[in-house]
Amino acid sequence: MHSKGAKKSLKVNSEPSQKEKKYEKESPGAHNPNYFIMAQNKDEEWVKAKIIECRLISENIEEIGKKLKKSKKLDEHSYEYYVHYCHTNRRLDEWISSDRIKLTSEYIDEEKIKEEKRRKGIINSSDEEYEGMDQNARKEHEEATKVKTIMRIQFGEYTSETWYYSPFPDGYHNLDTLYFCEFCLSFYKTDQERRNHMGKCKLSHPPGNEIYRDEELDLSMFEVDGFKNQTYCENLCYLSKLFLDHKLLYYAITPFLFYILTLKTETGHHVVGYFSKNKDPSDGNNLSCILVLPFYQRKGYGKLLINMSYELSKIDGNIGTPERPLSDLGRLSYLSFWTQKIIEYIKTLDGKPFTLDDIVKNTAIRLIDVIDALERVNLIKKYKGEIYICTNTQILDEIYKKMGRPAIEVHTENLHWHPFYYEYNKNEKKEVRNGRPRRRRR
Ligand code: ACO
Ligand code: ZN
Repeated sequence: MHSKGAKKSLKVNSEPSQKEKKYEKESPGAHNPNYFIMAQNKDEEWVKAKIIECRLISENIEEIGKKLKKSKKLDEHSYEYYVHYCHTNRRLDEWISSDRIKLTSEYIDEEKIKEEKRRKGIINSSDEEYEGMDQNARKEHEEATKVKTIMRIQFGEYTSETWYYSPFPDGYHNLDTLYFCEFCLSFYKTDQERRNHMGKCKLSHPPGNEIYRDEELDLSMFEVDGFKNQTYCENLCYLSKLFLDHKLLYYAITPFLFYILTLKTETGHHVVGYFSKNKDPSDGNNLSCILVLPFYQRKGYGKLLINMSYELSKIDGNIGTPERPLSDLGRLSYLSFWTQKIIEYIKTLDGKPFTLDDIVKNTAIRLIDVIDALERVNLIKKYKGEIYICTNTQILDEIYKKMGRPAIEVHTENLHWHPFYYEYNKNEKKEVRNGRPRRRRR
């Protein structure tokens, strides 16, 4: 047993599990991770939490060495703990010292918790984030990514705490800060290395075609081909994985196009965020991954990216949907976007009758997503086999307002984009990689 609280546990008579034995051997004296704890979060509130990992406190190494020499035992204060606060997103997981921990005697019985959830029919938002992943894949994902290894990034003039583990190459882990060149996205372990690079870096915008420009807001969008610019796109994926939990770790870059949103200043086009899109439209997704860098979030750029993905769908003639699973923030942003777009469409009709299909055709939002959004805000009712959608202007306006700021407009006259000519050679089972955009009339 590792802690006093644990001794009081309900599981008194049971033998220590394999996991407990291993933990005892590897981390003698540390708090037992098999019991819930109360932990003090960043807001200084005491909340229920779980210990994910522990490590010896590096500043105390000398003291620890002395203790070991005197054959004194290590105790819980010799360690710091990586904790997950229950019922919150994993991006809030963090390393804390033992004085932010209080013990409980509540054993973490995963099976019992799962059974309880099943019985109550609870699917919480974190379960939704694993939509499309089976139990094994989810477990594997959680195990492989349980502790983040890079705590901060420096990107241009901004620094930001990271949210999740990202599979950077060996040698780029266990770092306090990782330094990026904000133009070519190469990354460095020290600021000096990054500065040396900046002196030589020739890029001042993403390496692709500028397909959109909004002069008034100084925004641009560049299309970067994952096949032609592999290193740039790989670096972008490493970077974005620091803020995206649910996407798988293994990136196939070449089948994707990356649409990078930038903000222009006198020093260049600074990356604000991006979305990726599969070149092969047959999977039905008009967007694969979306990210707005933390220092640009909640300014409307996320909904602008989503807006752009639907404008591209309108051009390539496909009804689109984002790839699942959606993250909690992805879901909030999509629900906000879908609801507002649907309400905007209904209001243009001025009371004329319409069908769900009309909404789909005019917004390029997939039928299931239209229904999902309308249901979430209570605008749709089924009655005696008929579907009714609320068109009361006052109610529509209230809901529109609740959904936050409207998406930044895409001025389609400034969008110069042709669908990617994707060809898959079925006989040779390979992608025709040098596919050229097919010119289409718009
Ligand atoms: N809390 C509450 N509501 C939120 C939040 C939040 N943290 N973030 C977005 N919303 C809702 C709000 O309604 C917001 O409108 P408002 O700010 O006017 O109230 C609306 O969504 C959209 O806000 P934007 O400013 O347009 O979105 P943002 O620029 O912050 O980008 C995004 C949203 C891309 C999801 C961003 O949070 C992000 O990059 N998160 C990390 C990566 C991620 O989760 N990506 C989505 C994965 S799903 C997929 O890839 C298919
Ligand atoms: Zn560079």
